Amino acid sequence: MSNLTFGIIKPDAVRAGNHGKIVDRILAAGFKIRGMKLIHQSLKQAEGFYAVHSERPFFGELTEFMSSGPCVVLALEKENAVPAWRELMGATNPAEAAEGTLRKDFASSIGENAVHGSDSEENAAIEIAYFFSKLELV
Ligand code: CMP
Repeated sequence: MSNLTFGIIKPDAVRAGNHGKIVDRILAAGFKIRGMKLIHQSLKQAEGFYAVHSERPFFGELTEFMSSGPCVVLALEKENAVPAWRELMGATNPAEAAEGTLRKDFASSIGENAVHGSDSEENAAIEIAYFFSKLELV
């Protein structure tokens, strides 16, 4: 699993029609797409996915936003995929995101920040399994 990470193109980016551009940038950065699908999460699914944040003050806002429209879930492969994907995404807060990152170019706020990425190999495996069956991964 060490070369895999999990990503989401969040509802704000899909609503704005930026998902194609973001997929292009992912491929241009050398990732292989091992799994990809457009889904519309229920509030319960979003609450399950973000359960580690359930005590945070922004949990309600986060899960409502993540279930507010379609998103694209991705299983991505590259050497050192977890840090490589986090680097391409940029800082969580787009105001702090570096030039050339996805959040600099496509995110509007810390809540509506265009993309999600796993923070560790262990969580990448858990997050991929949350959304993909084995048959859906190539
Ligand atoms: P993500 O990488 O998807 O993981 C947790 C998310 O919580 C994070 O991206 C942000 O979009 C969101 N988040 C973090 N801090 C805040 C905040 N202060 N207000 C709203 N959402 C936040």
